[in-house]
Amino acid sequence: MISKGELIYEGKAKQLFATNDENVLWVEYLNQATALNGLKKDAILGKGELNNQITSTIFEHLRQAGIKSHFIKKLSKTEQLIEKMTMIPLEVVLRNVTAGSFAKRFGLDEGINLKQPIIEFYYKADELDDPFINDAHVLNFELATAEEIAELKQATLEINQALITMFKKAGIRLIDFKLEFGRNAKGVLVLADEISPDTCRLWDASTNEHLDKDLYRRDLGDIVPVYQEVLRRLDAIKE
Ligand SMILES: Nc1ncnc2c1ncn2[C@@H]1O[C@H](COP(=O)(O)OP(=O)(O)OP(=O)(O)O)[C@@H](O)[C@H]1O
Ligand SMILES: [Mg+2]
Repeated sequence: MISKGELIYEGKAKQLFATNDENVLWVEYLNQATALNGLKKDAILGKGELNNQITSTIFEHLRQAGIKSHFIKKLSKTEQLIEKMTMIPLEVVLRNVTAGSFAKRFGLDEGINLKQPIIEFYYKADELDDPFINDAHVLNFELATAEEIAELKQATLEINQALITMFKKAGIRLIDFKLEFGRNAKGVLVLADEISPDTCRLWDASTNEHLDKDLYRRDLGDIVPVYQEVLRRLDAIKE
């Protein structure tokens, strides 16, 4: 039997606890939303449950598509078990459609389909506001090896295909998303963290309505009913 141990990390969206298995962590999803690198912060009742359920459902979909992740199982509405990783301090962002900081940086409208998916790296360092970096920075700062960079990009493209297929069935257009990877006890690169409307831009396929955290970032409305709708649609396409 797995049992919950001490709190080892408290982030903005989740708490990580040790377990009696040194390779397994116990995660609690919190009712907290943040934006602007933590400058904007609110307690949102029900958000922890929704993100835990959405992330778990997505990792299960990916597993069926042959894509491995740190996800072991959902324990309760707000908790899950994951394989413990030594995290790579990178946000791996894939963009299918212009939006957010990308649209701003290049002076483009949002919603333009890119000719091919664009992968970007951001260095995870809150105190620096997660700066945009390239492969040379990753190598120079020894965040990952050249082989690992290639592996990260390949995995991200494959995850994109699987997510596009899944979301399409749910009537959702996948605009962009952020992934985090870690190395497991054997040194193997594994997809970790979460995939949820906090970490993806999801637009309704017919209306282009935002079904993601941009509602919160931009004060456009309540995220809870919209996250519920994403979960409902993902549950409806389960085999
Ligand atoms: N399998 C894993 N093993 C170890 N750490 C993980 C794993 N998956 C995710 N994490 C890390 O756990 C933390 C999750 O907490 P949360 O998402 O709340 O953090 P955060 O507020 O985004 O802060 P941070 O800037 O540290 O990511 C992150 O630091 C994330 O990188
Ligand atoms: Mg996080």
